[in-house]
Amino acid sequence: MQRYHPVLVALHWLIALMILVALLIGGPSLTAMANDDPDKLFGITGHMTFGLVIGVLMLLRLVTRFRAKSPPEADAGHTVLNLGAKAAHWGLYVLVLAMVGSGIGIAVSAGLFDIAYFGSGAPLPADFTVFSARVAHGIIGTLLLILIAAHVAGWAYHQFVLRDGLIKRMWFGKRG
Ligand code: HEM
Ligand code: HEM
Repeated sequence: MQRYHPVLVALHWLIALMILVALLIGGPSLTAMANDDPDKLFGITGHMTFGLVIGVLMLLRLVTRFRAKSPPEADAGHTVLNLGAKAAHWGLYVLVLAMVGSGIGIAVSAGLFDIAYFGSGAPLPADFTVFSARVAHGIIGTLLLILIAAHVAGWAYHQFVLRDGLIKRMWFGKRG
């Protein structure tokens, strides 16, 4: 087995793109808007839906990861690097799901499901940072960004230093 299952490959790249969009564009542009801005609710509804879809796709990927046969762990030539890669991979699952969980936490604390999806008409709270889930969402987002940077650095090490073509394991092709 030299490659990940095609479902894992497709979901890896789709989820990666969606996370980068939410993390670098969606979230920050939302935070930059005042809560009494008439367009804010539209942005919040879009971000919530996008984030919930990421959560469902990540859970689907996790279940597939346990069910499909995956390639043996890659060797970066050093025990510490190999352990780091393993920790980073599971850490990515944990942080992405924690991001979705804390997002749901904000929505529950601020009654956003009623406001965004059921048109309750209630005003948005003046500021989300009064909710601890909102503070957690910001911190987890920063940690996730750092871990993604480390993950990409790991890929770059394989690509440009070891030159072992590791990326092929996360692409489509013959798996045997
Ligand atoms: C942005 C969000 C990203 C997330 C959440 C993510 C998540 C993951 C996870 C969890 C794995 C482990 C394989 C598994 O358990 O299924 C993995 C593997 C991999 N990722 Fe990412 N990834 C992201 C972005 C990227 C980017 C931008 C690149 C490359 C530039 C990349 C390259 C790879 C490669 C090459 C592997 C295979 C590693 C191996 O075979 O050991 N990933 N990724
Ligand atoms: C992986 C999925 C998600 C990512 C990457 C993400 C990313 C972000 C980021 C980067 C911010 C701005 C943080 C800051 O500036 O401190 C943010 C804010 C927010 N997110 Fe998410 N989010 C995700 C999922 C969710 C979900 C599922 C919900 C709700 C169901 C949600 C609701 C919110 C809310 C209400 C805010 C606050 C906006 C404000 O303060 O004006 N997020 N998100």
